[in-house]
Amino acid sequence: MRNGVNHNRPRNGLVAALDIGSTKISCMIAKPSADHSSGPGLDARIVGFGHHVSKGVQSGIVVDMDSVEKVVRSTVEAAEQMAGENIHDVIVNVNIGKPKSRLIAYEVSIAGHEIGDADLRRILDPKGLVENEFNSSEVLHKIPVGYSIDGNKGIRDPRGMFGERLVVNMHIITADSGPIRNLETAISRCHLGVETKVLAAYASALACVVEDERQMGVTCVDIGGGTTSIAVFFDGELVHADSIPVGGQHVSNDIARGLATSLHHAERMKTLYGNAIPSSNDDREVIKVPLVGEENNSEAWQIPRSMLVGIIRPRMEEILEMVRDRLVQAGFDKVAGRRMVLTGGAGQLPGLPELAGTILNKQVRVGRPLGMDGLAEAASGPAFSTCVGLLNFALNENQDLSYDTYKQGTLQANGRLGRLGHWFKENF
Ligand SMILES: Nc1ncnc2c1ncn2[C@@H]1O[C@H](COP(=O)(O)OP(=O)(O)OP(=O)(O)O)[C@@H](O)[C@H]1O
Ligand SMILES: [Mg+2]
Repeated sequence: MRNGVNHNRPRNGLVAALDIGSTKISCMIAKPSADHSSGPGLDARIVGFGHHVSKGVQSGIVVDMDSVEKVVRSTVEAAEQMAGENIHDVIVNVNIGKPKSRLIAYEVSIAGHEIGDADLRRILDPKGLVENEFNSSEVLHKIPVGYSIDGNKGIRDPRGMFGERLVVNMHIITADSGPIRNLETAISRCHLGVETKVLAAYASALACVVEDERQMGVTCVDIGGGTTSIAVFFDGELVHADSIPVGGQHVSNDIARGLATSLHHAERMKTLYGNAIPSSNDDREVIKVPLVGEENNSEAWQIPRSMLVGIIRPRMEEILEMVRDRLVQAGFDKVAGRRMVLTGGAGQLPGLPELAGTILNKQVRVGRPLGMDGLAEAASGPAFSTCVGLLNFALNENQDLSYDTYKQGTLQANGRLGRLGHWFKENF
């Protein structure tokens, strides 16, 4: 039982992820492999998993601290029990505080000399320039996405090169600090520390997008219960992220209201018979709808499936159009190519890839978490992309300048994402 004692156990090498979602809270514990001989990356195996229906969270925001605390405790305890070990710190996702994504260019003068470590340290100093510009919000990620020397773009590692002016393009993601503090407070009430925070959209994409897609350019859209989050990768790097406070719960609410049934039955009908696009059989197929307050009445209302699809489709269209409009506004509708990966619980709705393909003019596939050993069947669906992605972030993605763990030297940098990963680890 998690109690008031502050656990001060020695580090057991475990990495733990906590996803506080609008409909479910999940925790995964991974054990990195002790054998590093296979390369610079870390292999890991999931040894603990717990999940629970969420309470006290609306569109990702903590609205009832006590309820969240209770659910987090029991979820983490379930994962700890399965792992047979306790955890102290968690990597947590952030899908709140109106996350903002900005690409900023910083410039330093090189004056003709060879670019070395000192120049990079000056230009990438995570403490300096960046924090001052965003006083009321918290900087979640600072990702160097490319360098240019004297206007020549596309440089991945400028060291050893010559020039007059060195520019780094930095992708900075910020979010309002108030809601993040509440999230941290709920977690600390469970006697857990927050090891690092990762934007939900980023985490989801790390779990279900493959490296080739990242290189080619891809948009990953996680449609959850109360939020829809967007991550755009280009040239291997996360270049844009966004979040909209709508999701699958809005679809279920529409069904409940439209068919005068309970939310529970609306949810059930959506997952059993729902579709985002109509089919020719829809008028012939009949679905029973228990009316709200009359669940035990054997003479339930009957509707053709086309009526259900007729409620689901406009809401899904609206959500996808919002995604498209946000991408257009930010100028990322075309930049990231034509590939799109749909994930999140509500991303599983049949017919959604086709609808999304038409609205966003992209080739769409559904993405589920990839490549993590020990992932239980129950945790292998698109709803768990964020949670698996949090582990991926901790294990592989540590070239992000805001990630503290590698500063402490507790995890090894993975060279997969560019040679600079190791350099960052050594220097910040
Ligand atoms: N098979 C399915 N078809 C359609 N929708 C589904 C299916 N399974 C789950 N959903 C929907 O997925 C949503 C939950 O998704 P998910 O678990 O990703 O949300 P969450 O992470 O808790 O919420 P958020 O990320 O928005 O905070 C619910 O609205 C649920 O109705
Ligand atoms: Mg989610």
